Amino acid sequence: MKDLFDKIYSDKGPLGKWANQAEGYFIFPKLEGPISNRMKFKGKDVVTWSINDYLGLANHPEVRKVDAEAGVKWGSAYPMGARMMSGHTELHEQLQNELAAFVQKEAAYVLNFGYQGMVSTIDALVNKDDVIVYDVDAHACIIDGVRLHMGQRFTYKHNDMESIEKNLQRATRVAEKTGGGILLISEGVFGMRGEQGRLKEIIALKEKYNFRFFVDDAHGFGTLGKTGAGAGEEQGVQDGIDVYFATFAKAMASTGAFIAADQEIIDYLKYNLRSQMFAKSLQMQLVEGALKRLDMLRTMPELKEKLWENTNALQNGLKERGFDLGTTQSCVTPVYLKGSIPEAMALVKDLRENHGIFCSIVVYPVIPRGLILLRMIPTASHTQEDIDETLNAFSAIRERLENGTYKRLSAGIAEEMGEEV
Ligand SMILES: Cc1ncc(COP(=O)(O)O)c(C=O)c1O
Repeated sequence: MKDLFDKIYSDKGPLGKWANQAEGYFIFPKLEGPISNRMKFKGKDVVTWSINDYLGLANHPEVRKVDAEAGVKWGSAYPMGARMMSGHTELHEQLQNELAAFVQKEAAYVLNFGYQGMVSTIDALVNKDDVIVYDVDAHACIIDGVRLHMGQRFTYKHNDMESIEKNLQRATRVAEKTGGGILLISEGVFGMRGEQGRLKEIIALKEKYNFRFFVDDAHGFGTLGKTGAGAGEEQGVQDGIDVYFATFAKAMASTGAFIAADQEIIDYLKYNLRSQMFAKSLQMQLVEGALKRLDMLRTMPELKEKLWENTNALQNGLKERGFDLGTTQSCVTPVYLKGSIPEAMALVKDLRENHGIFCSIVVYPVIPRGLILLRMIPTASHTQEDIDETLNAFSAIRERLENGTYKRLSAGIAEEMGEEV
């Protein structure tokens, strides 16, 4: 019989196998200094494009003041216990009411973490007779929620209406046999490629099929729609979303999350979300901080305007220089290049050390082999100077990629890893 750990000693997993070459640099890098458009990486100044601080709130003086004062007032323990037992407060309720109004829903429920909240919400919405239909590119928390499901599930091709309809037909046939219902799950904005979920077209399918629609709008909340209510508002279909989810970890630059829906649905969920019933409530400093941030989302439209001004300048500048941004329809800015994993490593090293540009790098197995995805998140705190430096740096690295410089520089790594360049 094998020791349980044998597999761990012999196989570190698709990312773990790169640990020696990548850790501390490409994976688990340490960005230092105050969160802003420019931070320090390995002691050098870099323009930061990898922080989801869309509205520039993370280090905003008003936000920092409220966070600090709330820390002094409450400490980090308050309230002790899960919401249901001893962790419920007036401020949690106030935050829920304000969030519900902001996203144009009857009610909301605050979650201590987005990831677990998402998993639990999926778990609570379905039983074994129900069928889940979801996008193949769904975020890990959606996939984990679906993994808990005891009944049938179907994935559809990413954002593909024909595939969505085909899978709704399949799901309908199953649900008619089991006597269950259908839950369709999409993201409002897909965080890697930046495409919006096809919420409007999916909601139009409610005319033909009987399903409920759950949207994870982590990247849309605060960045899309006239008032910042997200991808549903942007597409004019917020009413058609049956359960809306967003995290505080992006536009709100904090920790925590919420779901919003009709009152009766929220009343049910608050009694059935296992990750909230059996885990500590969101701490008070974060609740007060979220109230402050939400107030800024409501009253300072200039933050979203600045975010979009920077997004448009960055995306248009890249497009004018002939870069492939795929099909982004949001602030998420992916740049697709062609190259091997070792070349990608040499390229990012050059970008960080010689050009002072820090962005995330995504390679196989997250995207197909042979593609390099450099992913940038513009924020309201970036400047035109940051954008100009970045555009020049991108032109320079593309030239070096095309003339084989990174291939030569990465030959050693490639040999060590048995990877093709
Ligand atoms: C689409 C999506 N859903 C859910 C989450 C999880 O949220 P949290 O970081 O609040 O746990 C994330 C990541 O932050 C995300 O990108």
